[in-house]
Amino acid sequence: MTSFSLRWLSRREPVDRRSRNRTLERALAKHFDGWRPLTVVDLGCGTGSNLRAMAPLLGPDQHWTLVDRDQGLLDAAAQRLSSWADGAHWKDGMLLLFKGAKRINAEFRRADLARELEAALGPSANLVTASALFDLASAAFIAAFAAATAARQSAFYTVLTYDGDQRWTPEHAADVAMVEAFHAHQRRDKGFGRAAGPDAPDALSEAFSAAGYAVSEGDSAWRLGPGDETLIAELARGFADAVGETELVEASTIDTWRAITRTGAIVGHADTLALPPVA
Ligand SMILES: C[S@@+](CC[C@H](N)C(=O)[O-])C[C@H]1O[C@@H](n2cnc3c(N)ncnc32)[C@H](O)[C@@H]1O
Repeated sequence: MTSFSLRWLSRREPVDRRSRNRTLERALAKHFDGWRPLTVVDLGCGTGSNLRAMAPLLGPDQHWTLVDRDQGLLDAAAQRLSSWADGAHWKDGMLLLFKGAKRINAEFRRADLARELEAALGPSANLVTASALFDLASAAFIAAFAAATAARQSAFYTVLTYDGDQRWTPEHAADVAMVEAFHAHQRRDKGFGRAAGPDAPDALSEAFSAAGYAVSEGDSAWRLGPGDETLIAELARGFADAVGETELVEASTIDTWRAITRTGAIVGHADTLALPPVA
């Protein structure tokens, strides 16, 4: 099982936030304008960064169910959301958050989506969302997930799904071979069977279009440069480690690649908004 450290999730949160596609954010806000209360399920919630980014876009009365398989991350989510909010307290197993004019009820549910998707989705949320999740999932899971979401007529919005574009500054002769090997690593089983990796955005669009949804996609690439040095270095290390695990690139080439200090990187992502057909 791939696990995600608190440190890594904290490091990426501000970059994720600035990279989200603004056109899709506006379309989401417009779709849900006037909905009150609004029920939202966040899959693979980590420390709750998706709620922190999305709550300002949605109405004054929100009910979130945050789902993750990692209890440590769910506990961290409750803590971080409490610090983020202007006020927070627990009532009947629910965390009540007050942020500006928003009142947000948050429930936390531990579930493995690969085995407990129906329970994780619950009866019928208005919106199912996720951030940085679907490249870990298999094409078969994405198809089953779209069918389960469509059966509930829930809207779907996901952000920061890796799309295969990976560029480093300065460039290096081994970049192409390294990225190919990285993609082989990305397609390894991350708990859902063979992962869709960089094919996930297309798989999501196809699955929701087939279910009759109106699907929009927008660019949310990380564009890293001055000020992002720590993240770039960490990213390059993780990238080289993943390539090393595949044994598809000579160890000496990877060592040479690692030795370079990078000043920039582009990591391609896509955001997807899928709205159900009007009943
Ligand atoms: C890349 S992290 C993203 C976390 C968070 N959404 C964010 O954007 O910061 C992926 C998250 O999905 C969760 N996850 C991965 N596989 C899962 C599964 N099979 N069931 C439930 N959660 C899963 C991980 O524990 C992790 O919190």
